[in-house]
Amino acid sequence: MNNSGTTTPIQLSSKPTRPAGPSETGTRPNRTACIRTFGCQMNVHDSDRMRRMIRDAGYAEVQSYEDADLVVLNTCYVRENAVDRVRGHLGEINRLKREGRVKRVALTGCIGAASEAEQLERQYNIDLVLGTHNTYELASFVGLPTMEETYTPDLPGTEGDHSAFVTIMTGCNYQCSYCIVPTVRGRMICRPMDNIVSEVERLVESGTKYVTLLGQTVDAWRQDGKRFCDLLERVSEVAPRIWFTTSHPSNMEDRTLKAIGERETIVRRLHLPVQSGSDKMLKAMHRGYKADRYRRKIEVFREHVPDGTLSTDIIVGHPGETAEDHEQTLRLVEDCAFDSAYIFKFSPRKGTEAAELGGVVPDKVVQRRFLQVLRQVEQNAYAQNQRKVGSLEDIYIRHGSTDDGRSIGETWSGHAVHVGTNAKPGEYVEARIASAGPHVLYAEVPRS
Ligand code: SAH
Ligand code: SF4
Ligand code: F3S
Repeated sequence: MNNSGTTTPIQLSSKPTRPAGPSETGTRPNRTACIRTFGCQMNVHDSDRMRRMIRDAGYAEVQSYEDADLVVLNTCYVRENAVDRVRGHLGEINRLKREGRVKRVALTGCIGAASEAEQLERQYNIDLVLGTHNTYELASFVGLPTMEETYTPDLPGTEGDHSAFVTIMTGCNYQCSYCIVPTVRGRMICRPMDNIVSEVERLVESGTKYVTLLGQTVDAWRQDGKRFCDLLERVSEVAPRIWFTTSHPSNMEDRTLKAIGERETIVRRLHLPVQSGSDKMLKAMHRGYKADRYRRKIEVFREHVPDGTLSTDIIVGHPGETAEDHEQTLRLVEDCAFDSAYIFKFSPRKGTEAAELGGVVPDKVVQRRFLQVLRQVEQNAYAQNQRKVGSLEDIYIRHGSTDDGRSIGETWSGHAVHVGTNAKPGEYVEARIASAGPHVLYAEVPRS
């Protein structure tokens, strides 16, 4: 399978239409659909595309299952608790279906691509199961003409919004011992540069102010001798604000780290999953780097992006992890001074190497280690955030104000800020940081 443009992009409406909820007229629209998304940004992005198919087919989007004729669950398979959550939702939807409220159910995304889907399909009376490579089949299910796409990257992304995801690659060529993603998302396919840049141009023309380049290992992107940094630089000339996620330490080039510091349109925030601070565990995980190489990357980042923020992913309790391995993770967390971290307890996934390994770490030990890593990350993040208090920041508003009158924004150095303003998403406000917690900064916009 290649993505060199042999398929014709499907024609969906170029702008998302406003959800026509039942409240507007007081009567229930003819056909309604509810889409629920679990998992990572890849799924959020796929849901955006499915949402547009559903709206183009004449469905009004609703927020609760009770109001929906059609329910689409776009699912995640990365850890067992992700599957448990989906089972809970399927149970409720199945009950509504038996009562005659929900008419049809589609299960899409990463569980859809796993063998477990068959059992769920039978148990919960699911009407359609789709994997990650054939989401386009939802079109005929909802009554649109059949689409000829065989993979997702050429499906148009979200347009007309203040921020948009742009997929630059799908799948993953790594085989980390614990990870099911390559099984459910397939091998890496890089989307051609011209294709990506023209989508970004189209988005910017239609009003997008913030573009996030997406993929499981974006820095592994390659095309005809061009590397990720070339793409990043090109896109940074087109989009007014950009970010990218996720990166792999083995692919991260120093020149990309320099570009983050030098290019004005790139948000100075790096998410670089380390997983463990122990060389023995990194080897068992097949990560392809040692802890000191990771530390050196971070030194380069800190040197070129002194005010930047750094986040990571860490797994605690991978089989074979000893107290000493755990100590080394704590040491690495201290050395790298992460601004935030996603910490996960190891979850055995059927079909992965780690699920078969001995040296299983008892739950109680995993829980203790999890809390220790969390505490270490939070102490550090809190101390660093405190240093931002008093600084004047240019804040990009990501989400409009909530009931308490606060909006959620982001500084150019990638800090999340709760700010008292009624500026709209996509606008900038200038404000001084008044206080800080371990996860967010707080600011007030002076009244004029
Ligand atoms: N492609 C990204 C992340 C993919 S999944 C990368 O390589 O960095 C997101 C995170 O989930 C991973 O970084 C890892 O920390 C965690 N994860 C993946 N499989 C897991 C498992 N079986 N148990 C616990 N955490 C897992
Ligand atoms: Fe999973 Fe590893 Fe690929 Fe990330 S790099 S998606 S953790 S296999
Ligand atoms: Fe989950 Fe699939 Fe993303 S397994 S983390 S939704 S790629």
